[in-house]
Amino acid sequence: MNKKVLATVIAGAAAVMMTSAVMAEEPIKIGFAQVGHESDWRTASTKSCQDVFSAENGYDLSFVDCDNDEAAQKEAVRSFIEQDVDYIIIDPIIATGWDTVLTECDEAGIPVIVIDRTIDDSDKYAAWVGSNFKTEGLAAGEWLNAYATAQGIEEINALVISGSTGSSAQIGRSDGFNEVAEKYGWNVIDEQTGDFTEAGGQEVMENYCKSYEGQFNVVVCQNDNEAFGAMTAMDNAGVTYGPGNDVILISFDACTAGLEDVKAGKITADFECNPLAAPFVEEVIQKLAAGEEVEKEVYMVEHWYALEDAIVEFEVDGEAQEMTVVTDEVIEAQY
Ligand code: AHR
Repeated sequence: MNKKVLATVIAGAAAVMMTSAVMAEEPIKIGFAQVGHESDWRTASTKSCQDVFSAENGYDLSFVDCDNDEAAQKEAVRSFIEQDVDYIIIDPIIATGWDTVLTECDEAGIPVIVIDRTIDDSDKYAAWVGSNFKTEGLAAGEWLNAYATAQGIEEINALVISGSTGSSAQIGRSDGFNEVAEKYGWNVIDEQTGDFTEAGGQEVMENYCKSYEGQFNVVVCQNDNEAFGAMTAMDNAGVTYGPGNDVILISFDACTAGLEDVKAGKITADFECNPLAAPFVEEVIQKLAAGEEVEKEVYMVEHWYALEDAIVEFEVDGEAQEMTVVTDEVIEAQY
């Protein structure tokens, strides 16, 4: 081989090596349209995604906090299409109204992964990773039935502070709890939204305390932050809650502060919603990148929490449920 040919071969080989090095270093571009920052749960979900889809892990993450604004969330998704990201993650604020924008993602050839809440009016996404909200609601209801029976409480008069109206988290938890309430003939006095926030929970509970004074013995908050606000309102109104008091307080999420309130005997039972979905979303993305098939639905594992004397046996859809006793170690390990 003469020198000129050899130089050309070496230059060609170097170019190939450089291209693959550059390609190997090319980060995967991800757009994440997050619901907002309304709760402890949401903070943990955002952190989970930012930790997993970090630059060190080979990702270039565009994160948009949509502040619970449905129009802003669709705009964020469209901006990801314009940026030509490789994958789009959506945590849908509400469950409907998605088909047009998902069609646009599809036409742009960008796979969408839905996280946490569901999209109920379109299937134009590659996969969903999240919670079974109806099961959470059914579990709360069936636990209440078993607990009330064990305590000799014959009548249930419940007030519900629901989550953001039209979100699948609200729809599922309300459907599940109402199904059980109907089954046992309970009186669900009212259900008003606290928008999954502490301020919302407090405002709704203040109104409930005025409108239904002395008429309720159960308060169901659809997340811990609403429960924190509801407790402030009940404290101010002189309503006592927790085992042996005026009101049985039920909550969802089981974040660290929620479990601390279970341990303190304020929240009687807390039904977990697991926000740490990002590692499972990454698995989906890695499979899609490798051209492999993915599961369309991935359910997060979740636990139900109470103190020892509120642990009761109950079933959901014929399946015996396990409860976890809240201890300092359990709280320490929680999100
Ligand atoms: O979609 C999950 C719900 O949204 C969580 O229960 C709540 O805390 C959050 O804001």
